[in-house]
Amino acid sequence: MSPSTTLKEQYRNAANFLQRLTLHRRFGTNRYGWYRWVFEQIELTHPPRILELGCGPGALWKRNLALVPQEAFVVLSDFSSGMLDDCVRNLGPLTARVRLCRLDAAHQPFRDGSFDTVVANMMLYHVSDRANALRDIRRILTVDGRLYATTQGRGSMRELNDAAWQILGVSGRTSAADSFGLETGYDQLREVFTRVECRRYETQLRVTEAQPLLDYYQSMKPMVDAPPERWSALFTFFAQAIARDGEIAIPIDLGMLIASN
Ligand SMILES: C[S@@+](CC[C@H](N)C(=O)[O-])C[C@H]1O[C@@H](n2cnc3c(N)ncnc32)[C@H](O)[C@@H]1O
Repeated sequence: MSPSTTLKEQYRNAANFLQRLTLHRRFGTNRYGWYRWVFEQIELTHPPRILELGCGPGALWKRNLALVPQEAFVVLSDFSSGMLDDCVRNLGPLTARVRLCRLDAAHQPFRDGSFDTVVANMMLYHVSDRANALRDIRRILTVDGRLYATTQGRGSMRELNDAAWQILGVSGRTSAADSFGLETGYDQLREVFTRVECRRYETQLRVTEAQPLLDYYQSMKPMVDAPPERWSALFTFFAQAIARDGEIAIPIDLGMLIASN
């Protein structure tokens, strides 16, 4: 199964993803920083051989590549060529230290045991042929290798999402947490790997402006779509809640599953 047309359109380039990141950067309460935390969970081997699947604009490496030894072999991959172009723009001169590869995570063109670290940061829930992807990740990892997969838990933004889908008239949406979340992903990884550990990143959003929240939901187009009057109703819902309570406090449940043999 190849990625759907709507998913390809959603990730035509980094714009939609960066829009969502902006909400977390502006209103997230954990000031330590997500990408700093993600990188610190990774145990680097010597010399490191790292593959990132679905690297997007390369934010993890923009923030942390300076901490990776020069002799490291780092492959950043994504199924979207527009995303890889934005990754090059974002990394600038750092691009010289990585190899870029366009691939679908479900079909990896690498030899058995090619990497000791595979990173799948907020992306496995998008992969339709996930069972194949997980088996392939295990195949390309060394015997001691590890997969570091971040995702969200069931409680993340749940109430707000439910309200938003109702106002927008969106039904039957499968959440990321249902597809491959901290709970569901754990079970899927245990089908393929011997050991799986879950670590959580504590944060929440305290949003004091309606427009960035609306931008967040609009950045999910075309996976989420609605007529203009419904988007206006959603804006009004956010604006009224903020006028009444001063902010919208949103529980966020993010974390990492670390899988090994
Ligand atoms: C939510 S973004 C995360 C980007 C990056 N990992 C980060 O956290 O900063 C998801 C990324 O996964 C990519 N992606 C989605 N499905 C994919 C697939 N089947 N194979 C490879 N990349 C995929 C998208 O193009 C997008 O860049």
